[in-house]
Amino acid sequence: MKVIVANTYEEGAKKAADVIEKLVREKPDCTLGLATGSSPVGMYQELARRCKEEGLDFSKVHSVNLDEYVGLEPTHPQSYRFFMDDNLFNHINIDKANTYVAKGTGDVEENLKEFNAVLDQTDIDLQVLGVGPDGHLGFNEPGKFLYEKAHKETLEDSTIDANTRFFASRDEVPRYAVTMGMGSIMKAKTLLMIINGNKQEAAKRLLMEDTIDPQCPATFMRLHRDAIVVIEKKLADEIGYKG
Ligand code: GLP
Repeated sequence: MKVIVANTYEEGAKKAADVIEKLVREKPDCTLGLATGSSPVGMYQELARRCKEEGLDFSKVHSVNLDEYVGLEPTHPQSYRFFMDDNLFNHINIDKANTYVAKGTGDVEENLKEFNAVLDQTDIDLQVLGVGPDGHLGFNEPGKFLYEKAHKETLEDSTIDANTRFFASRDEVPRYAVTMGMGSIMKAKTLLMIINGNKQEAAKRLLMEDTIDPQCPATFMRLHRDAIVVIEKKLADEIGYKG
């Protein structure tokens, strides 16, 4: 695993954007696996700036997102479709027809069938990842085992707590989500994780220990051939990571 320690959130956002820029310039028709959450927002802002000011061209790029809440319409401000439009797609020259975020409403089984069909037909060049405080990737929550394919997950209490900040109250946070499975994530050619904030436990398990543990899905990053972790120095210091 390549680990980049960034002095600040902004520096991390730029370093992560550099990785994506390199790919998009080398392979203009690449497929990006994208993630939501506060961790990648700065990188998305930086990519939007580079698109506007430096001609970084997303016109041929395709994308597929990691996950979506069950029960939220795409027009709901906390749905991940809305998040992606608002934080990235509306600010770059990507063709929205080439972007896929799984459906959160309607028949869950049908939505999963469609999600898995999309993933079966897609080779993801680079998958962006955040990490939940409990070590989840996408919405692959810790458990005795993990799933290979896209599936429905029941969100852990700690995930609901962590995501309450985006909703008017805890009761409004959806209890279920559909997510790419670990198989789809691990098949991406490159993994790019951005980790900052209150993620000491997950960061420690990922960077300071040697076990691969379904109770901390983030540890599976270590099995990947081309995994990049961008971590904020404050967090690296907190867990005693020296590089
Ligand atoms: C949600 C998403 C994850 C994301 C996590 C961390 O649970 N499903 O994909 O990694 O939030 O979010 P943040 O970056 O806001 O800490």
